[in-house]
Amino acid sequence: VFAALAQAPEDPILGVTVAYNKDPSPVKVNLGVGAYRTEEGKPLVLKVVRRAEQMLINNPSRVKEYLPITGLAEFNKLSAKLIFGADSPAIQENRVATVQCLSGTGSLRVGAHYLHPQPTWGNHPKVFTLSGLTVRSYRYYDPATRGLDFKGLLEDLSSAPSGSIVLLHACAHNPTGVDPTIDQWEQIRQLMRSKSLLPFFDSAYQGFASGSLDKDARSVRMFVADGGELLMAQSYAKNMGLYGERVGALSIVCGSADVAVRVESQLKLVIRPMYSNPPLHGASIVATILRDSEMFNEWTLELKAMADRIISMRQQLFDALKSRGTPGDWSHIIKQIGMFTFTGLNSEQVAFMRQEYHIYMTSDGRISMAGLSTRTVPHLSDAIHAAVTQ
Ligand code: LMR
Repeated sequence: VFAALAQAPEDPILGVTVAYNKDPSPVKVNLGVGAYRTEEGKPLVLKVVRRAEQMLINNPSRVKEYLPITGLAEFNKLSAKLIFGADSPAIQENRVATVQCLSGTGSLRVGAHYLHPQPTWGNHPKVFTLSGLTVRSYRYYDPATRGLDFKGLLEDLSSAPSGSIVLLHACAHNPTGVDPTIDQWEQIRQLMRSKSLLPFFDSAYQGFASGSLDKDARSVRMFVADGGELLMAQSYAKNMGLYGERVGALSIVCGSADVAVRVESQLKLVIRPMYSNPPLHGASIVATILRDSEMFNEWTLELKAMADRIISMRQQLFDALKSRGTPGDWSHIIKQIGMFTFTGLNSEQVAFMRQEYHIYMTSDGRISMAGLSTRTVPHLSDAIHAAVTQ
């Protein structure tokens, strides 16, 4: 049965790490996957997360029972509050159905139905196609300006069939690092609401784009404030550093409390045959931190420190390319936001940098700024300089 199967290709993002791990070079740098690293290039477990885990371990009444299909109730409430804001009318009116899911991907998969921006995170089209949906893309990025193709975006959304679901990155668009301005969000909102297009937000970087949890949720809150419906997939992989714990939430904002109850009952039908019920540990860590104001504050400080380090890497890389006189306008490195820079390097240049400099990134030229450090900036700048002048 299995002998005739072909070898499947590596994942375009996670496969970069597989190749990196096989490279024996001492100077290798992994700028592929969006996972935070310290200045020393090490993974970071937040201090507040360690503290929360210690509290959980020391609690003798903690058991390992199954969670309900919808997950940890307190985690769900706190997650909705975090993204929509404590004073959100949708929360106050009990119009939100939230279920704990397996990080961002799991939340998207449970929510699935959409239109995706072009380009978008590599896993988006697969998640939704495998959910049996017809997937189309809308224009988003303009390679000429290395900015937003706002005209193209509005044109494509205008011509989308009414009732389509539109996937939107809440902040820090992956892979481009290009977000609409607040004015542009407002125009997108008006257009979508007038055409009855349903927003499906993917929020994987709340707190990472600007360092402020509230600021990075502004786009979403504009859509909640108008009283309309939306879907929200939330991940704690990056902003709490809980990558491998697979902790996230899907919230569906409904028109009334009655509808929210029915929506939740339907979500249970989706989840039960998919993975039965979600894992306990990560959601318990998140709930421990979000429920306690002192731990919450500690978290925001650590989050800000990560965001600031990434912003400083942008400046250092930009300065290093400038000082080398590398041809081209590299100002997009400091203009783009979030974990990634969409460098504009082509796949040949990416391959050259891997071959000659042992620098690993996705073939679309995306680099994870979180994987960079003061020590590795000169090596990356040398590589980029060589790639564009070869
Ligand atoms: C990324 O885009 O690098 C991350 O979101 C990790 C992943 O799962 O692809």
